Amino acid sequence: MSSGNHLQWHSASVNKTERELLNGHQGGVIWFTGLSGAGKSTLANALARSLYEHGVRAYVLDGDNVRMGLNRDLGFSEQDRMENIRRIAEVSKLFADAGFIVINAFISPYQTDRAMARHILSEHPYIEIYACCSLAECERRDPKGLYVKARSGQIPHFTGISAPYEEPQAAEMTIMTEIETVSVAVDRIVTELEKRHIM
Ligand SMILES: Nc1ncnc2c1ncn2[C@@H]1O[C@H](COP(=O)(O)OP(=O)(O)OP(=O)(O)O)[C@@H](O)[C@H]1O
Ligand SMILES: [Mg+2]
Repeated sequence: MSSGNHLQWHSASVNKTERELLNGHQGGVIWFTGLSGAGKSTLANALARSLYEHGVRAYVLDGDNVRMGLNRDLGFSEQDRMENIRRIAEVSKLFADAGFIVINAFISPYQTDRAMARHILSEHPYIEIYACCSLAECERRDPKGLYVKARSGQIPHFTGISAPYEEPQAAEMTIMTEIETVSVAVDRIVTELEKRHIM
């Protein structure tokens, strides 16, 4: 670990402002949090499509995909969930610096982990969005059949069943996915990005 003493940050020849000028919008982060089945991936991908149609460079980082690659060594203990979020935040920082709007879809159940992500990304525009849906409705949707498995004990540490979900206290936006349609929610997020002069 002490090799850190010999590391030196190399500054880039093209800076962030120049990249943003080229793209015509800022880089930034949209971070969806919520229970499994609340609609994070659905909203993230609908938003990515809308941003693409607006000529905005966006990229979705999604829980399962990241866990199949970068974070394949991590499990679902509190410790591993924290490391999962830390790495995602660091990757997001690179994407945001590159000028992308990165759209994150992770349960991210712990308040301290979300605060850590926000801190790591403090130099970039950051919008936390709570995909809010009752546990009962998430279980009814059960798009991946995970709740059935969690209830029967096949999946340990399952958020909402055998692991906690800490509701955001100060998310920039909340989307009640039992009430608001995907397209209305996406339009509302795009309006928010415009209002903040991110795009
Ligand atoms: N208004 C809505 N917004 C988002 N999703 C909705 C809405 N209404 C119904 N759904 C449905 O709810 C399900 C949400 O599943 P999705 O995979 O997006 O959840 P998730 O939050 O990404 O879960 P996980 O954490 O397991 O990845 C989908 O089947 C989607 O079609
Ligand atoms: Mg998902």
